[in-house]
Amino acid sequence: MKWKRTGGMGIQLAAAVFWMLPLITSSTGDIRHHGASRARGWRAGTQQTVETAANNSVSNITAQLGGTAYLHCLVGHLSERGQVSWIRKRDWHILSSGKFTYTNDERFQVLHGEGSEDWTLQIKFVQKRDNGTYECQVSTRTGIVSHYVRLQIVVPEAFILGSGEHHVDLGSVIHLICIVEKSPTPPQYVFWYHNDRMINYDATRGGITVETEPGARTQSRLTVRGATLKDSGNYTCSASNTEPASIHVFVSEGSNKMAAILRRNTSAIHGITTSATCLLLLGTALMHYGLR
Ligand SMILES: *[C@@H]1O[C@H](CO)[C@@H](O)[C@H](O)[C@H]1NC(C)=O
Ligand SMILES: *[C@@H]1O[C@H](CO)[C@@H](O)[C@H](O)[C@H]1NC(C)=O
Ligand SMILES: *[C@@H]1O[C@H](CO)[C@@H](O)[C@H](O)[C@H]1NC(C)=O
Ligand SMILES: *[C@@H]1O[C@H](CO)[C@@H](O)[C@H](O)[C@H]1NC(C)=O
Repeated sequence: MKWKRTGGMGIQLAAAVFWMLPLITSSTGDIRHHGASRARGWRAGTQQTVETAANNSVSNITAQLGGTAYLHCLVGHLSERGQVSWIRKRDWHILSSGKFTYTNDERFQVLHGEGSEDWTLQIKFVQKRDNGTYECQVSTRTGIVSHYVRLQIVVPEAFILGSGEHHVDLGSVIHLICIVEKSPTPPQYVFWYHNDRMINYDATRGGITVETEPGARTQSRLTVRGATLKDSGNYTCSASNTEPASIHVFVSEGSNKMAAILRRNTSAIHGITTSATCLLLLGTALMHYGLR
């Protein structure tokens, strides 16, 4: 396997996409909200007009299945009695209050540095069921102020370009491309299998190359030169963070297009009526579909 970009291997699985929505509690206790562009100005100390009404504000974040999600809640200067709680809306579970976590699920943790204005809910090894809305509830002197974070879990997917099967002539090149998408953190590896055998490093067969370009949309190219009848079969692309994807490769002796024609016509096969040849074709087609 050849990783074209050298940085690709060091990428942490824990990386996650997150959104910062700065919230400030004013001295009167209401949370105020800077727009995204103003946030930078605020951080740089150039205070500009502050947008009001951040109570019930909503932000969206995306995290990859298996990765780590950081749900930020920036509250300014809390009054002495101020308390920050995280609540999961799905089941109204109070996950944390202050720095304490009220769940047996050890994937949840509140990150808060001394003197920091950020109360981040960290969720490790995110699962599909973590998808949903979380409320950061801040009790202030004037009442409860809420900030909602919508966490969306993205599930990386792999697929091989082309339809479910691929036809090549004897002696030609089998060329397959596997795409891994919806994967903000690229997969750590992409392995190719011919039936049950991993062929990335296959030295006995020879003429096989795998080139993988990791990215948000990872592309892995398999090249098998000098196709023989033995190279027919099931080819599977298996990435570290997805379900595998498969395609069937048929290596045939030049003009043997029968299989291809047969399959192309299966949707119209009920239209075929009389001759014995046609019945034979129908039988073969049904067997093919029955076996799938
Ligand atoms: C969050 O996502 C919802 C729909 O999923 C959308 O309507 C809303 O505008 C998004 N909010 C932000 C701040 O991007
Ligand atoms: C997550 O929830 C949103 C709606 O809140 C839904 O549109 C989306 O399909 C869900 N994703 C998963 C992976 O369940
Ligand atoms: C924030 O909004 C909620 C719901 O609309 C309301 O009950 C609460 O009093 C508001 N908090 C403040 C401090 O105004
Ligand atoms: C191909 O092989 C993979 C892995 O062995 C298997 O999961 C998949 O079902 C097979 N696909 C077909 C079409 O036979």
